[in-house]
Amino acid sequence: VYLIEDCAHQHGTTINGKRVGAFGDIGSFSFQQSKVLTAGEGGAITTSNRELAEKLDALRNCGRRPVRIISEPAGEDMRSDGFYGEEGNFIHSGNYRMTEFQAVMLSCQLSRLDAQLRQRDANAIYLNSRLREIDGISPMRRELGVELQSYFNFVFRYNQNAFKGLPVQQFRAALSAELGCEVEPCYEPLNNCQLYRPLTKNRYKLSAEYLDQINPARFALPVCENAYQKESVAFHHSILLAEKGDLDDIVKAIVKIKAHVAEIRW
Ligand SMILES: Cc1ncc(COP(=O)(O)O)c(C=O)c1O
Repeated sequence: VYLIEDCAHQHGTTINGKRVGAFGDIGSFSFQQSKVLTAGEGGAITTSNRELAEKLDALRNCGRRPVRIISEPAGEDMRSDGFYGEEGNFIHSGNYRMTEFQAVMLSCQLSRLDAQLRQRDANAIYLNSRLREIDGISPMRRELGVELQSYFNFVFRYNQNAFKGLPVQQFRAALSAELGCEVEPCYEPLNNCQLYRPLTKNRYKLSAEYLDQINPARFALPVCENAYQKESVAFHHSILLAEKGDLDDIVKAIVKIKAHVAEIRW
C-alpha cells in the first residue's frame, strides 16, 4: 500500500525534525490561490522513489519519458529539466505543466516562506493562549512532535452552551461583522463533500462491487458532521501575519459577543 500525503495545507510543517511531504511515498502540495505558497493555481509532488518520480514526471508532461531521471545515477537530483526522449512511448497522459512564470513567482515566495511560517506559528500559539482563557472556546490541540505548524486556516472550536445557546452560524456572522473579515466553518464531511462524487465518474468501466466500495453513502462521519454544523470557526491564514494588536482584536470581539449575546437575534 502506497502512502500519499495530502500536504495541500501544510507547506513547511515539521514533525520530529522531518518536513511533511517526506513521510509517505508521495507528498502533494497545492499552489492554488488561497494557499500559503501560491502561483494562482498549480502544485508540486515530492517523492524519493525514482520509479515513481519518472512516472509522475511523465504524467505531468504529456506522457513523455523524462531523460534526466533515467540517465542520472541514483541519488542525484531527480528533476527532468524539461528534457524528454522517446516521445509518446511511455505512458498516456495530458499536459499538466506549470508555466515558468508561475515558477518564478513561487521561487520569490520560497525566500520568504521560513520567516512567514515562524511568524504565523508564533502568532497562532499566542492567539490560542488568549482564546483558551474564554469559556466556550477551545483551541486546536497541537500534535506531539510538531516543531513548526503551518496553517491554511486558523481554527478553533465553539461551544454554544457557553454563549447562551447562540448557534455557531450566528456567532461566525457576528464575529465577521465585528472584525470585517470572513469567518467560515471547516470543510464539510467527506461523505457529503461537493467535490467527492466518485459515482459520477461513469467514463470508467467500474464493476458494481468496486462502485459499492467507493460509495460515500457507505459510511457516517458524526464527529466531522458535528464540527461542521455546530463547532468550527475558521479564519484564513493571512490573519496570522497580523500585528499582535490585531490578534487581540479577535479576542476582544469574542468577549464582546459573549457580553451582548442576549441582544443578538436568531
Ligand atoms: C485538503 C486539500 N487537499 C487538496 C486540495 C487540492 O488542491 P488543488 O486545488 O491545488 O488541486 C485542496 C484544495 O483546496 C485541499 O484543501
